[in-house]
Amino acid sequence: MNTLILSGSVSETSRSFLLCKAVEKQLIAKGEAITFIDAREIPMHTEHRHRTDEMKRLAEQVKQADNIIIGMGVHCYSVNDALKILLDTCFTGAIGKFFGILCAAGGERSYLSTMHLTQICMNEWRMIQMPRIVFATEKDFKENIITSTEVLERIELFSEEFHAIGRKLLA
Ligand SMILES: Cc1cc2nc3c(=O)[nH]c(=O)nc-3n(C[C@H](O)[C@H](O)[C@H](O)COP(=O)(O)O)c2cc1C
Repeated sequence: MNTLILSGSVSETSRSFLLCKAVEKQLIAKGEAITFIDAREIPMHTEHRHRTDEMKRLAEQVKQADNIIIGMGVHCYSVNDALKILLDTCFTGAIGKFFGILCAAGGERSYLSTMHLTQICMNEWRMIQMPRIVFATEKDFKENIITSTEVLERIELFSEEFHAIGRKLLA
């Protein structure tokens, strides 16, 4: 299957990017084809200005993907700014696709913030979410490395389930 991983944070020291990279590694080991997109490499405009070439390319990659994994940072108990722009402008090709969420937050109390991404994807494009997310906070990382064994275990479980359910949905 062809999985698109969109790391949606533009923070220089993004932790959700590290979650996305860890899941990418696991899925590649399972033989999956991954297209990895780092939002930091996409010059972007908001919805009411023309899309950049990189945004048009992402829209095409969304259309081509069998399923999608989205990395988000929590901003004000919701999805981070850049990710919202990319959802608003590049996701029309995501209708009905299976997706998963990897989330980095400052603190544990923000764990329900991923529900905003669930709402956007389900209400707008009738996407089907995997009923497991990876949620990590500042204390789960040290110097750009995931140090929490619990988060590492969840990454393994997430990858295994995404791989298994994703394949079944394509069969
Ligand atoms: C504008 C802004 C708003 C934030 N709001 C929250 C918040 O509501 N809850 C929270 O737990 N962390 C919040 N944070 C902290 C981020 O979620 C945290 O730094 C996380 O690592 C961001 O993901 P990233 O590292 O992939 O960019 C906020 C950070 C910024 C810059």
